[in-house]
Amino acid sequence: MAHFASAEAPAKLNLGLKIVGKRPDGYHDLLSVFQAIDLSDALSFEEAEESRTEIRCADPALPIGPDNLIHRAVDALRRETGTRRGVRVSLTKVIPTGAGLGGGSSDAAATLRVLNGAWCLGLPGERLLELGAEIGSDVPFFLRPGTAIVSGRGERLRYVRLDGPVHYVLVRPPFEVSTAWAFRRLSERANFGLTARTKYVNLLNSIADSPISACELFACLENDFEPLVAETWPALKAARAALVTSGATACCMTGSGSVVFGVFFEAGPAIRAASELQRAGHRTFLCRPAGSVSAGR
Ligand code: C5P
Repeated sequence: MAHFASAEAPAKLNLGLKIVGKRPDGYHDLLSVFQAIDLSDALSFEEAEESRTEIRCADPALPIGPDNLIHRAVDALRRETGTRRGVRVSLTKVIPTGAGLGGGSSDAAATLRVLNGAWCLGLPGERLLELGAEIGSDVPFFLRPGTAIVSGRGERLRYVRLDGPVHYVLVRPPFEVSTAWAFRRLSERANFGLTARTKYVNLLNSIADSPISACELFACLENDFEPLVAETWPALKAARAALVTSGATACCMTGSGSVVFGVFFEAGPAIRAASELQRAGHRTFLCRPAGSVSAGR
């Protein structure tokens, strides 16, 4: 069957994450800086029989049925536009799952974007954002990956610039976290800081049009999920401690975990830290912020 498009689907880091409210629809309002990074899944699109959606992935642990977010993105486009075109998506999974890196959401956003274009469906950007939000809270961000202050359920995006060169060393501890589990655990706590006016919250609320100062942001990073994930999996603390020892300027968990990242302002120390951590047995990735993604034929 004919190949008709390819796309890269980048991961993201949450440069801090505060849960600021519980919503009537059961979801939570958050406040976070999302940043796309140069760690990406690769998707390749081929024609398939009418109305069929097939996902192929070399990783047998990855669920490829109707619950896969790629599948749900194709379903959403069919419902919305009435198209009956079939597609086979071959997915090269590079972004670890259950890691807080948004890989599944990014794959879904890439699918929405690519098929809307390649199938000439003509959905406007605003409608793609709404369809994305129905698939998952992080999908709207990945429709235009970059650096953004994200609020609401994940659908309010304010694109910003982070000044200064940044290098990240990611450590993936030996466990996965389910986002739904983490939100449930968090909302069981009577007072999980809904009204907290921390330095991080004040900084994000004070940013107008100027770039975010990387030094200021990384000096007040916090993630509301990190203490409760660490309670259940002590390996998280070990990953954080290893990053601190390796010289990271700041450390934080991303999303609902399990990845912890360390911040470096220079390439040399970041490269040395990543190889030391790797040698010590940690699963490690060396990353940089990424701009917009490529999608080509
Ligand atoms: O939207 P998504 O499917 O990624 O969310 C997974 C789960 O995380 C939801 O079922 C919900 O319980 C929780 N969630 C939340 N508030 C958000 C995002 C997710 O409560 N802003």
